[in-house]
Amino acid sequence: MAMIAKQCPDIDVHVVDLNQARIDQWNSDELPVYEPGLDEVVREARGRNLKFSTQVDQAISEANIIFIAVNTPTKSFGIGAGRAANLEFIEKCARQIARCSKGHKLVVEKSTLPVRTAEAVKRILSSSANGATFDVLSNPEFLAEGTAIQDLLNPDRVLIGGESKEAVERLAQVYGRWIPRDRILTTNLWSSELSKLTANAFLAQRVSSINAISALCEATGADVDEVAKAIGTDSRIGPKFLKSSVGFGGSCFQKDILNLVYLCEHFGLREVAQYWEQVVIMNDYQKRRFSERIVRTMFNTVSDKKIAIWGFAFKKDTNDTRESAAIHVCRDLLEERARLVIYDPRVPESQIRSELEHAFSDTVGGLGEKHKKLIETNVTVVNDAYAAAHEAHAIAVLTEWDEFKSVDATRIYNGMRQPAFIFDGRNILDLEKLNKIGFEVHSIGRSAK
Ligand code: UDX
Repeated sequence: MAMIAKQCPDIDVHVVDLNQARIDQWNSDELPVYEPGLDEVVREARGRNLKFSTQVDQAISEANIIFIAVNTPTKSFGIGAGRAANLEFIEKCARQIARCSKGHKLVVEKSTLPVRTAEAVKRILSSSANGATFDVLSNPEFLAEGTAIQDLLNPDRVLIGGESKEAVERLAQVYGRWIPRDRILTTNLWSSELSKLTANAFLAQRVSSINAISALCEATGADVDEVAKAIGTDSRIGPKFLKSSVGFGGSCFQKDILNLVYLCEHFGLREVAQYWEQVVIMNDYQKRRFSERIVRTMFNTVSDKKIAIWGFAFKKDTNDTRESAAIHVCRDLLEERARLVIYDPRVPESQIRSELEHAFSDTVGGLGEKHKKLIETNVTVVNDAYAAAHEAHAIAVLTEWDEFKSVDATRIYNGMRQPAFIFDGRNILDLEKLNKIGFEVHSIGRSAK
């Protein structure tokens, strides 16, 4: 919305949320999310044609176009728990829009939704007591965190699905202010809804595919980065999204695939559901394999050993930790009674601790006093990479922050216990250089030298 406001100074954009604290942050100098370039975009438009408030009813009644961008987390209860999307917030929005609207409005689904959700949204909207009428459009968002501003300024495509040609055209005109028309694709509603889930499923599948091959590389002496390069030069495969890692994270991939799996099951497509579920199973395996490798390599015990964790965010250039592979690896290592010293340049200590508590809540028996105590005593959060590695038995690189590539490795080595192990979960470090200094380096998809 900030980008629309920036690019279209004549359009008034009013962002509303029920959460006053959140809105206060959007109105302050300290935005609630870290995203390179976002501050400038918000600063340029805020107070001109971009407004943040909690006046939801008023914003609805004044708007011509309403974007629904509430979250659709995986359901944690009842039918479809652990798989289906929780559509409670979408439905509440639709009801509120129906209640506060007069005249004709465009309602745009921006949230990622199961295919055919628009049907439910339309039915709820049609119950409007004030005789308001609506067109419902699907306009999924494809930006990735860390590169959001570039992705919004110069997207590969914008997708708009809808039944009414005029309504689709009205929204296309907004994006058309800065995006070439041939990159604005229009489809029917259901194709648009399904394309978002499919795009994320395909992207996640590529990561799981290369990660599956990484296990075979470690067993055979092949190098996964060399394999990725070799296959990526085939123009039919392409080079992107072939970086083997400790596992994908983020708020979208797992949630959207599980949602897709649920949909397939709902429509009786068992084989299709199983096919896609394997992408998530492979990702869980990759995370678990990484922690097991650490324990196995360190003489089958990490109990009471100090392990530096470099990076906690699910990828670089974001402070987002949702579904981050780091959470799973840290939980496994804590179960083994390791002492963790965690450093991430952007993630605050309180967030790291709460993610770890949450991770234990998902284990059998839930978060007990024992685990709370374990996190309290065995987790330290520090604010630089050197402090984390000081007197550590090992370093685990879990996020590919650029600063990890340029540390003074000799200084790190001299401060560590010997043998000094590095487990590079992102394959970003200079293996040869580190080996020369004396480190024992284990990376993804390579057998250790
Ligand atoms: C993703 C989609 O890319 C985006 O189009 C959609 O709108 C939202 O979901 P995001 O989750 O922000 O975006 O990040 P993305 O760059 O896709 O990375 C997801 C995860 O996959 C990260 O944990 C990343 O580290 C991992 N990844 C990605 C790899 O391990 N290897 C790769 O080659 C690429």
